[in-house]
Amino acid sequence: MSLITWTKEQFATNVSAHDQEHQEIFRLLNVLGDSVGSGDRAAVGRDLDALIAYVAQHFAAEEANFEKYGYPATPGHKAEHDKLVATALDLQKKFHAGEAEVTGDTAAFIVGWLTNHIPNVDKLYGPFLNEKGVA
Ligand SMILES: [Fe+2]
Ligand SMILES: [Fe+2]
Repeated sequence: MSLITWTKEQFATNVSAHDQEHQEIFRLLNVLGDSVGSGDRAAVGRDLDALIAYVAQHFAAEEANFEKYGYPATPGHKAEHDKLVATALDLQKKFHAGEAEVTGDTAAFIVGWLTNHIPNVDKLYGPFLNEKGVA
């Protein structure tokens, strides 16, 4: 079952590299959702690790473009990334220590974060980067 579906209308930033990365994040999140549903804890751990690693890589890719082109909204945007990464690393550590579980609520939290961040924060860099020739 899909937790989240990428549509151009809702999620396109008009920067193709980042649009592709967002679609890969959604794919990995849906895979994690399936493993949570299956109750296979080892699979949940693997899928959680894969999602977190990819999200961190994606944030670094966005921030590299911000730095390269002098995007003025970088500090607030990066603060949102850093906050999610801190939350994710804490959960990852606790999960692997057997001190926390990944549940449907966890998946819903990530869906909510992405559904807010991409349309309301990521989309703002589209026109700026397009202007710099990044499409
Ligand atoms: Fe993003
Ligand atoms: Fe972002």
